[in-house]
Amino acid sequence: METKIITVDEKNPDLSLLLPAAEALKAGGLVIFPTETVYGIGCDATLAEGAEKVYAAKGRPSDNPLIVHLSDPGDADKVAFVTPLYRRLAKAFMPGPLTVILKKRDAIPRQTTGGLDTVAVRCPSHPVANALLRLSGVPVAAPSANISGRPSATDAATALSEFDGKVDYIIAAGSSSIGLESTIVMPTGDDSLLLLRPGAVTADDLKLVCSEVKISDTVERAPDEGERPVCPGMKYRHYAPSKPFILVSGSPEDRLEYLRKASEEGAVVICYDEQAPEIRADRRIAVGEESDLSEQARRLFSALRLADRYEGDVVYANLPPRDGLGLALRNRMLRAAAHKVIDAGDELLKRQ
Ligand code: TXA
Ligand code: MG
Repeated sequence: METKIITVDEKNPDLSLLLPAAEALKAGGLVIFPTETVYGIGCDATLAEGAEKVYAAKGRPSDNPLIVHLSDPGDADKVAFVTPLYRRLAKAFMPGPLTVILKKRDAIPRQTTGGLDTVAVRCPSHPVANALLRLSGVPVAAPSANISGRPSATDAATALSEFDGKVDYIIAAGSSSIGLESTIVMPTGDDSLLLLRPGAVTADDLKLVCSEVKISDTVERAPDEGERPVCPGMKYRHYAPSKPFILVSGSPEDRLEYLRKASEEGAVVICYDEQAPEIRADRRIAVGEESDLSEQARRLFSALRLADRYEGDVVYANLPPRDGLGLALRNRMLRAAAHKVIDAGDELLKRQ
């Protein structure tokens, strides 16, 4: 298959350019498109064969369900049984980086939902994603545009490097402004939510419209062997560089000292801007200031990919804090590191 690339202005997209891609979606094809979180690889969510093609292109296990994207949060009742809590969440956070799990209608085949009787619903705020969804007129199932297990793509060039020849169209429109996938929540009552995957809509944000927000323990814990977590994706290793990846906790001074030594000894270090001067220039990848979690979120996935291309046999990074967007960074980095965390202070003591 020849993959065609359509380049559009991210803020003011020329809709006519998107028409062939919308037609391809309607005809059962695959289209990679930008969203505010990450790029997605989409198909018509109502077609069983669509989901099968996406699983095949990504090399993704077919028990890992896809998120269904809509141009208008009000369209959710075409694919799911909506609830008053969904409507409140939609009013507060959609379009935007929030995905809500609802009971599915028959319009969505089980191939799309990995065999589950629930469906994940999201309305992206990116103008290009929104226009494409409107033009196609179908709900679009779209996982992140990465080969299964790799970091998600946040720009079209990265998606092209993995999907050239495997999809009909790639729509190129700059880099995703958030850089981490959407927050996923599952309603557990009329006024309570279980947070399954942290993202740019934080637990504190959600508490503004819902009295109880419980954070699933799989956000920070590796599922046990054979366990099937509520969010099936959590059981798969994701985002991983192909080198061993280890997170470093401890005081700022200990972390810096440990990372400095590690870079001298041949490790690649994903560091904060203020740490960079201490770390070997040819082995460091700075991702923003320690206090600037949004910038770190935007740059994390490209940093993980870049780490693979650097010389060095192991990759280290700071363990992010739990507050605000930190929890989303922490979740992605823990999974990329297969939950390997060391304490810099302890490690420095051992060396003395
Ligand atoms: O920001 C995003 O959400 C991006 C962009 C493209 O919209 N999409 C994305 O999709 O991250 P994906 O497939 O990479 O991640 C979807 C996650 C998986 O972990 C999956 O297990 C979970 O959502 N999921 C989907 N449907 C579910 C359901 N019915 N119940 C529980 N978890 C579900
Ligand atoms: Mg993904």
